[in-house]
Amino acid sequence: MTKAKYRRVLLKVSGEVLAGEEGFGISPKMIDLIAEQIKDMVAMGVETAVVIGGGNIFRGIAGSAAGMERTSADYMGMLATVLNALALQNLLETKGVYTRVQSAIEMKELAEGYIRRKAIRHLEKKRVVIFAAGTGNPYFSTDTAAVLRAMEINAQVILKGTKVDGVFDRDPMKDPNAKKFDELSYLDVIAKGLKIMDSTAVTLCMDNNLPLIVFNIKEKENIRKVLMGEAIGTRVRKQ
Ligand code: GTP
Repeated sequence: MTKAKYRRVLLKVSGEVLAGEEGFGISPKMIDLIAEQIKDMVAMGVETAVVIGGGNIFRGIAGSAAGMERTSADYMGMLATVLNALALQNLLETKGVYTRVQSAIEMKELAEGYIRRKAIRHLEKKRVVIFAAGTGNPYFSTDTAAVLRAMEINAQVILKGTKVDGVFDRDPMKDPNAKKFDELSYLDVIAKGLKIMDSTAVTLCMDNNLPLIVFNIKEKENIRKVLMGEAIGTRVRKQ
């Protein structure tokens, strides 16, 4: 078994990544790529929890911008994360990876409810725990849910898998001259207005000194590289 630098990790997968080239919904190719990497994490002995976004299906903020009441739109976004969680669980199980989905909104016919001590027990038993439905509250992003759950389960780091190579000074999808940062402090992220995560999630990381690594999850070996301590992506921590 290859030795990983971390023992317990929270992986945040953005919904947008799941959409792949199709731009909407769950791309079979992308979800398979992510599941393969998660399988690899487990094989490396890393206790793995996953928070999955829902932006590939519905974004609360976009719904609210289009005139919906924000709370309703956010609940729809939370339900979108449940669809993604069930799809990921199913695929991981076909690959022989043991998983449990825990939902922050009770829907006991299809997933366990979120119980912190149970989640930790699953991790100790080397099951991948997929946290669905965000924090269960409107006005909180799935990034904030990821930071919250990471702290609750005592994860050593948050790995934020995105579709670009890290954090850039400008949007790299729009500007080819955008420059990637290798390292940043939480305060840099807030002061420079870098859109890695919303400010609630960043300050929660900062206040609790939880390191964050932003990297491109679309590259096949990237999670393994991050776990081995290779300097890819952007590291955000206290300076
Ligand atoms: P251990 O007791 O640590 O071995 O954990 P376990 O998850 O195997 O035990 P449990 O008996 O709680 O769960 C057995 C199966 O039922 C697992 O696949 C759980 O995900 C699932 N399960 C547990 N609670 C619920 C629930 O409230 N709703 C749904 N839909 N499934 C549940």
